Amino acid sequence: MERRTIGAAALEVGAVGLGCMPMSWAYSGSRQRGDESLRTVHTALDRGATLLDTADMYGPFTNELLVGRALKERRSEAFVSTKVGLLVGEQHIVANGRPGYVRRACDASLRRLQTDVIDLYQLHRADPEVPVEETWGAMADLVSAGKVRALGLCAVGARSHRRSGARLHDGTIRQLERVQQVFPVSTVEAELSVWSPEALEGLLPWCEARGVGFLAAMPLGNGFLTGTLTPGEGFEPDDVRARHPRFTAEMMAANQPIVAGLRRIAARHSAQGADVTPAQVALAWVLARGRHVVPVPGTKRECWAAENAGAAGLRLTTEDLAEVAGLPSARGSWD
Ligand SMILES: NC(=O)c1ccc[n+]([C@@H]2O[C@H](COP(=O)([O-])OP(=O)(O)OC[C@H]3O[C@@H](n4cnc5c(N)ncnc54)[C@H](OP(=O)(O)O)[C@@H]3O)[C@@H](O)[C@H]2O)c1
Repeated sequence: MERRTIGAAALEVGAVGLGCMPMSWAYSGSRQRGDESLRTVHTALDRGATLLDTADMYGPFTNELLVGRALKERRSEAFVSTKVGLLVGEQHIVANGRPGYVRRACDASLRRLQTDVIDLYQLHRADPEVPVEETWGAMADLVSAGKVRALGLCAVGARSHRRSGARLHDGTIRQLERVQQVFPVSTVEAELSVWSPEALEGLLPWCEARGVGFLAAMPLGNGFLTGTLTPGEGFEPDDVRARHPRFTAEMMAANQPIVAGLRRIAARHSAQGADVTPAQVALAWVLARGRHVVPVPGTKRECWAAENAGAAGLRLTTEDLAEVAGLPSARGSWD
């Protein structure tokens, strides 16, 4: 697989990563596939998808334990990215950015991951009660202590901090400017996909101009862009899509033209001999956003990890990119 070098710390990773979240969190059936999840991680590594994206919050904690088990014999082949700053409480998910907490959480993540060093430590969400510079300073101390190689910031929850009239990621950029004064940001992780392109405006150019890597979360639109979900599909109550405005039967039907466009492009490539899927087209579109971009498609299934890794070899043509640009904007919004 093509390799990409990203961020201040010149991190080298496979162009496509693996999001480990669905193995333990957020999607139906996430707790029932322990052994397949281990094989999924190994398949991703076999195909060159080295960046494994996890978080202490996923599970909570079980996702890191799973990644630790999967890497027991293969730690040197993987690039481990985990996150700090969110805790699963009785009723709500709460932020904690206090320096003492960050130090303890890092030690706990290292134990669960069965490793001496975390390749990328990301701030999952800033704590509104703690100046972000303080949290980031504590994370920088972990780099000095040799427990962490590089730091990243997540901007996936930016929607809730949006000011009226502002672009989605304006608040994130202000936060990035502040933490850059303390210690270099190596990566930003935010949602980016064919149906959620907001990061292209502002955030992605900000990263490119400063040599900051961009990890594209939810690059498959929570599975919708793969074309394997049908409108009216029921989601279990613990599945994020049960509450997601784009996953009502009405919005899934309204957004079918987007999937149809990805299918057409996949069919054109398949007609030339390659076996290309809509999921691979969706990932190739993300990869074509810049050499600093690494999509982290999430899956718990071996077959899909292999398929997603295969997207690194797919080059979209100018005609393909123009066709994606001409697709209708997604219907159904959080705002
Ligand atoms: N920083 C943050 O706050 C944040 C927030 C969200 C996500 N993330 C990261 O981003 C990663 C990706 O996001 P995501 O997992 O939510 O969304 P995603 O990658 O857009 O989609 C994941 C969904 O697509 C399905 N899928 C994956 N590959 C497929 C394929 N080739 N064909 C058909 N279906 C396929 C998966 O099914 P199965 O579950 O059945 O495998 C899962 O339901 C996460 O794993 C996580 O590491 C970070």
